[in-house]
Amino acid sequence: MPAEQLTMPGDSGGRTNAALTEDEVEILLTAAVHAPSQHNTQPWRFEVHGPVIDVLIDEERVLPIEDPAGRAARIGIGAAAFNIRVAAAMLGHDTRIAVNPDPARPEVAARIFLADRSAPVPELGSLYGELRRRHTYRGPLLSHPIAPKILHRLDDAADAERAHLHWLDPATSARLHRLLERTDTEELRDEDRIHERRRWIGSDRSDDGVQESALGSLPDLPAFVRDLSAGFDTTRDRVQYETFPMIAVLSTSEEGAVAWTRAGLALEQVLLVATSYNLATSFLNQVLEHSSSRHEVRDLIGGHAWPQMILRIGYPATSTDPTPRRDWHDTFDHWF
Ligand SMILES: Cc1cc2nc3c(=O)[nH]c(=O)nc-3n(C[C@H](O)[C@H](O)[C@H](O)COP(=O)(O)O)c2cc1C
Repeated sequence: MPAEQLTMPGDSGGRTNAALTEDEVEILLTAAVHAPSQHNTQPWRFEVHGPVIDVLIDEERVLPIEDPAGRAARIGIGAAAFNIRVAAAMLGHDTRIAVNPDPARPEVAARIFLADRSAPVPELGSLYGELRRRHTYRGPLLSHPIAPKILHRLDDAADAERAHLHWLDPATSARLHRLLERTDTEELRDEDRIHERRRWIGSDRSDDGVQESALGSLPDLPAFVRDLSAGFDTTRDRVQYETFPMIAVLSTSEEGAVAWTRAGLALEQVLLVATSYNLATSFLNQVLEHSSSRHEVRDLIGGHAWPQMILRIGYPATSTDPTPRRDWHDTFDHWF
């Protein structure tokens, strides 16, 4: 059933939806916290109000230097909200989502309404098995092409959330590569950025951040991969990477807090569908973290849409470790 047609609490003609059980909340929020977030900051908090879950932005986990407007944080929140929908579908709850639902509480970025439980919701629910398999893979990719049918499925996943995937041709990829190299060189001179990343990236991590074993190898020649530990000492090995991976820019037609959360909903749907085909994904977002280079990426994709994420997609040649998560209880504010 399309989310808009659901009968929800407050508009059900006197019928009230049942509150969620403790077991359901555990399943839903465990799914949510497995979402990707920039540097694995996990910038979310959750509240449960009967059959409604609010996802709030945790300002203390928004990166002040790399993400001052909270754009990346809201993308992560959108991804967490999408995971709640997937877990709810697996449990048999249809869902409807409202983005920025309460002007009096702008910190509530997404609100998910769960309908009474019935049969599992097939399409979304079938992605539940991918939630823990999905992780960011920054190692080398195999040269196997991705079948057009799969690329269409990824396009559909983005479109379903009113976003769009722009696949870059080799000439546009080469222009992006020059932009990436320029940004990487500039960032090596930016002590504030390096200092901020050092707080989250490298060494061992147990709750958040990206530990060294999740970073993968380094390329022996310039490649389409972001070294999150650029500027730090590292002992990681250098290996050969692919020359031209498939690159897609995820964009939205609007810009601002609502568009960012929607981009996160789209991102996670794309990533889970990619995972279902054993595809690996990583990101080249450094060029979107500076307004001038973000505008250059906007031009690369035609000048009309707002680039929100740059994805590198392909079949992995090796494997890297998943990143840790805080327990869902640590992200949980209230149960009303
Ligand atoms: C908005 C956003 C921006 C990100 N930017 C990058 C990036 O530029 N480079 C990168 O390697 N990973 C990037 N990531 C991936 C995160 O580092 C990753 O999701 C996080 O460490 C959690 O790990 P996992 O995805 O393996 O679960 C980004 C993720 C999000 C949601």
